[in-house]
Amino acid sequence: MTDDAQSTPLESLSTASPAFPPTVEFAAQANAHAELYSWAAADRLGFWGEQARELLTWDSPFSEVLDWSGAPVARWFADGTLNACYNAVDRHVEAGNGDRVALLFEGEPGDTRRITYAELQQEVSRAANVLLDLGVRTGDRVAIYLPMIPEAVIAMLACARIGAVHSVVFGGFSAEALRSRIDDASAVLVITADGGYRRGSASALKPAVDEALGATSDALGPVDPPSGTTTTVRKVLVVRRTGQDVAWSEGRDVWWHEALAAASDQHTPVAVEAEHPLFILYTSGTTGKPKGIFHTTGGYLTQTAFTHLNVFDLKAETDVYWCTADVGWVTGHSYVVYGPLLNGATQLVYEGTPDTPHKGRWWELVARYGVTILYTAPTAIRTCMKWGEDIPAGHDLSSLRVLGSVGEPINPEAWTWYRRVIGGDRTPVVDTWWQTETGAIMISPLPGVTAAKPGSAQTPLPGIAAEVVDEEGHPVPDGASGYLVLTEPWPAMLRGIWGDEQRFRDTYWSRFADIYFAGDGARKDDDGDIWLLGRVDDVMNISGHRLSTAEIESALVSHPMVAEAAVVGASDETTGQAVVAFVILRAEWLDRVAEPAEPGTDPQPDVATTLRAHVAKEIGPIAKPRTILVVTELPKTRSGKIMRRLLRDVAEHRTVGDVTTLADSSVMDLIASGLDRPTST
Ligand code: WT7
Repeated sequence: MTDDAQSTPLESLSTASPAFPPTVEFAAQANAHAELYSWAAADRLGFWGEQARELLTWDSPFSEVLDWSGAPVARWFADGTLNACYNAVDRHVEAGNGDRVALLFEGEPGDTRRITYAELQQEVSRAANVLLDLGVRTGDRVAIYLPMIPEAVIAMLACARIGAVHSVVFGGFSAEALRSRIDDASAVLVITADGGYRRGSASALKPAVDEALGATSDALGPVDPPSGTTTTVRKVLVVRRTGQDVAWSEGRDVWWHEALAAASDQHTPVAVEAEHPLFILYTSGTTGKPKGIFHTTGGYLTQTAFTHLNVFDLKAETDVYWCTADVGWVTGHSYVVYGPLLNGATQLVYEGTPDTPHKGRWWELVARYGVTILYTAPTAIRTCMKWGEDIPAGHDLSSLRVLGSVGEPINPEAWTWYRRVIGGDRTPVVDTWWQTETGAIMISPLPGVTAAKPGSAQTPLPGIAAEVVDEEGHPVPDGASGYLVLTEPWPAMLRGIWGDEQRFRDTYWSRFADIYFAGDGARKDDDGDIWLLGRVDDVMNISGHRLSTAEIESALVSHPMVAEAAVVGASDETTGQAVVAFVILRAEWLDRVAEPAEPGTDPQPDVATTLRAHVAKEIGPIAKPRTILVVTELPKTRSGKIMRRLLRDVAEHRTVGDVTTLADSSVMDLIASGLDRPTST
């Protein structure tokens, strides 16, 4: 590991022997059996070819599983054709399962909808016809900026149905962030809503779209881009969710409900080649510019279907599945939209927050809908631990039979709490490691097969090859740590960074020649099981969401108050990591902050409040620093690189580590002595 590696939040890493072998009853009925591993090990490509044929319906069959003429260009099932939406919806109706509920929707205010596969087919067909009417063509990009409502799923599927490429932007991102994503992908259409419900009130979305598209004011009324503003967006399709007033651009804006009501519910899905782009999803990297991770069709669908079926042991006829992720993240793409619908599952979609209107909302939903499989993030589990076991104990959670975790390392304490309190000491817990880039789960136990070790993602799934390597790329022995790499191509792998082939190669394929570098530290225990240790680059993981230090730094320095900024992720009990920013103020502001306000003059600018609001505006509320520390110097190497490792020591109140590579080693004393001054949380 480099000395700049993130420190692990897992103080209590344990390599004790497996604590939770599967019960005989569970193993007897489980989808996955140990033979899957030996089959895939003996014939990896044959194994994936068989999964692709078994789990998907192809318009024309593929003749070759993988075309890998060398990293990083992989083509899976390349000469086969298929349609993602047909596979997720129509074929279930054709198979006689049209009456099965696909989506059980619960809005935050308590409104509910049940959408069967037959109804979903009609809705996606209408929506596809609307997209065509609005001029969207196969291969065009469509930005989706919606709350967690059924229309988000329908919009994504409608794009896939006509072969358009969706780019979902999380509703919590700002107008600025939306704009840069629209521009990068040259989207022709935005699908949004008036707003959504969050923490008990209607929160607007449409104004951010208007602003992103260059509207001059956020006043209600007609909005028109000022002349000179260029955008590739021609139309905005607006779902009415909250009924709040919205500004309207005549000729550009179209109501979703009006357009769908007028559209035909007959539409034939467009068969595309397996390597046709399915979606772009932006994620943070180590620079200020997010990466447009892009995924294609056949391989992505094969692996999302396979993993959803086997990692969660899905029984489509009887299970009620619930993944709490928003469609704005990759978990929402793979395990709300594609995986479950490909497998014909019935799933719950919940719009709001876990504590609205009370802290038992999730458990009330599990009991009411009889949820059997729950997939969520460690940060949510730790929050529930903090609220106390009495809250889940007040609800009947006996329907649950499999629990999943994703997004960040889960500490053994949270893992065992999850299994005991939520799973009634009965359910397997699967800790699933993967990334936006991998598209689908890569490392995870298989319930019914793997004896579980709390805190470890354990083993690569059948057909997946992962390793932990040292600086030179050599596998480390059991008991040692290093970098996580993926040594063979996999079906759901990213096919690139949209518009930036060089960055794709540099980021993932050049740290170690021709193998995929994930950016995570990992350790192999004495049994060879893998324990994830967090990021080894300048990427933070806040509540399971990826944020870039560089992106937040550039947001901070774009404020006139700030001369320089350094951001680190410091361990946080609930959110895994929290954003801590060190800022150097410009001289003129420093004076204003240092001197008390004269009576009758403007109040002192509150540095922390101002800068937190500024970051929220530039990126979104999730990126707001938890702590802002005003300093006069930053620790830098002689080549000018900020030494975040030392700042993390300060942020986590640790003894500051080795300072010998600093250009000026007295800087750390200066920072430490200044910390009793303007500091804010
Ligand atoms: C990063 C990917 C995968 C969907 C959600 C996040 C971390 C993810 C685990 C896990 C330890 C995990 C890694 C990874 N991560 N799952 N089970 N154990 N770490 O997707 O935003 O692309 O972030 O999340 O650091 O690289 P993402």
